[in-house]
Amino acid sequence: MEKKTYYITTPIYYPSGKLHIGHSYTTVAADAMARYKRLKGYDVMFLTGTDEHGQKIQRKAEEKGISPQQYVDEIVAGIKELWKLMKITNDRFIRTTDTQHKDVVQKIFKRLYDQGDIYKSEYEGWYCTPCESFWTKTQLVDGKCPDCGREVELTKEESYFFRLSKYQDRLIKHIEENPDFIQPVSRQNEMLNNFLRPGLEDLCVSRTSFKWGIPVSFDEKHVIYVWIDALSNYITALNYMTNDESDYKKYWPADVHLVGKEIVRFHTIIWPAMLMALGEPLPKQIYGHGWLLLEGGKMSKSKGNVVDPVILVNKYGLDSIRYFLLRDMPFGSDGIFSNEALINRINSDLANDLGNLVSRTVAMIDKYFGGKIPAEREAGDYDQDLVNTVMQAPSKTEELLEKLQFNNALTEIWKAISRTNKYIDETMPWVLAKDEKNSPRLAQVMYNLAESLRIISIIIEPFMPETPEKIRHQLGLTDKKLTEWDAAKTWGIYPTGIAVNKGEVIFPRIELKKEMEELEQITAAKESEKPMNKAHAVSQPEKALESEASEKNAALVTIEDFAKLDLRVAKVLEAEKVEGADKLLKLKLELGSETRQVVSGIAKHYEPKDIIGKQVILIANLKPVKLKGIESQGMILAASDDTKLLLATLDGEINSGAKVK
Ligand code: MSP
Repeated sequence: MEKKTYYITTPIYYPSGKLHIGHSYTTVAADAMARYKRLKGYDVMFLTGTDEHGQKIQRKAEEKGISPQQYVDEIVAGIKELWKLMKITNDRFIRTTDTQHKDVVQKIFKRLYDQGDIYKSEYEGWYCTPCESFWTKTQLVDGKCPDCGREVELTKEESYFFRLSKYQDRLIKHIEENPDFIQPVSRQNEMLNNFLRPGLEDLCVSRTSFKWGIPVSFDEKHVIYVWIDALSNYITALNYMTNDESDYKKYWPADVHLVGKEIVRFHTIIWPAMLMALGEPLPKQIYGHGWLLLEGGKMSKSKGNVVDPVILVNKYGLDSIRYFLLRDMPFGSDGIFSNEALINRINSDLANDLGNLVSRTVAMIDKYFGGKIPAEREAGDYDQDLVNTVMQAPSKTEELLEKLQFNNALTEIWKAISRTNKYIDETMPWVLAKDEKNSPRLAQVMYNLAESLRIISIIIEPFMPETPEKIRHQLGLTDKKLTEWDAAKTWGIYPTGIAVNKGEVIFPRIELKKEMEELEQITAAKESEKPMNKAHAVSQPEKALESEASEKNAALVTIEDFAKLDLRVAKVLEAEKVEGADKLLKLKLELGSETRQVVSGIAKHYEPKDIIGKQVILIANLKPVKLKGIESQGMILAASDDTKLLLATLDGEINSGAKVK
């Protein structure tokens, strides 16, 4: 019989900066599901990737003075590294800059145009660049983007439009007839009441005001709207509209698209309408999860939070982080992230409950029986209750995982762990051990503990990639058959006569106070200056867990590190705009007897005439780079925030070339 398939996706990530722990939330959840389904014997396709086009990326690249492709390549490499570190088992990684993706998106656009679902007209309206969203005037809130509250720009351009309005009634009907299509239910109501029932307008699906996107194949001055491009990834990754559509035929429709709540709208309106227009089946479910927010309240402001997943994983271990993400908040709701809550959870659930149970069990088998549980055993009080509780856990885990209720599934598993710990208190092995005649009873108690742990090691596997093997090693379990998913449903198959291996503590306890002090040093005072740290000030996940934590970390340098920089006073002799780059100025600088050419991204803030004669600060030993084909021999320092950029200058005149330290 052919294997059943399971196709799960995460959103594809914007490579517009470093990913924070909130970003890894969807991916870790999807990974847990993918692992679970594989353990259940499914043929799984787990897709993630990156969404690399759009004005936002183009602007970021311009700010850095590099090409958008160079810009995304670097960040995407970091994202891939992160998923590797987090042991994400995606089967494919799609980049919207992949040639095949671009070709197929062009074909999709063309087909929709040819059949009249896309037409040419003129767009006049408001555009939110950070969200890559169009809005009508009436949709704006206080003149700002209704999604993120940021400034919008008035745009008027010739555009292509998608006949979204045509699909409104079919969409409403589909959602009403398929209650599982949008989950949780609250999001279904939101889509119906706030968007669909009030009426859909046709959607502007091309832009001419920037270049970084997939060109419309038959009208190249237009690039395809980034959401049309991005949403298509779910089928272009399966080779839709190519010579070999076998994967598409095998895996589509997706079983579930996991997405954050702010992008449910795109996935439950634009995407299904596109698929309807293409005559393709709709995904079975779109699940809109909540956000992980930062809290300002409980921890003092200056303590900040480390939200860089790389730091967190390296500090606390992968399984602790994955456990926390999936355990601490119900999947559909928002939750608060704090380092303190993380450490408390690690200490209570992992170090105390699970880690301790493993250590105690193995240590007792070692101490009382020299590492091997004897065959002669005697049943007694509490055994049946333990077995009943532990044996409920596998089926409950399955039932809850099928509904994507990760936190409830973990709660059920931890009930089994707690019950097993309680069993030790009830049976008091250390008392039994005092009398040789209790040996068979003591052996049974040890056996039951080992057997519970065998089962627990199986059902935590979807959530934790590393811990199951550590438990099995300590229990001496090598026969893979005994740790397959279905083996969790049979009690009493832990083999007699195998030897346990006393090993390291699986989850060391963390000393909260000391750890918080260390974290405080890492975050540095800077982070606390951001008002966005407070959950109540947050309306968008990008803001919710904005982090350049490792950049802040990098701020912790030694004096020797600092001394490696050759900072010099330089006088601007000449300045001119760089053709074709509205952010760049080419400068000629005097540095003592030497002159230097530097390309600087300050053109939006300084006219060439205004900076000639100024003394600025130059990093003189920076490796030269080419920006727009012009060599830049160093970098001048400037301060900037969202609105302003000011050059770092001196408090008076000094000889050019003077060292700054
Ligand atoms: N590029 C789009 C998705 C296109 S899918 C066809 C996008 N990218 S994103 O990088 O901004 O976000 C990716 C995912 O990360 C989203 O589902 C978003 O909700 C999620 N998260 C970002 N910050 C988050 C939290 N603080 N908490 C939970 N999820 C968060 O949107």
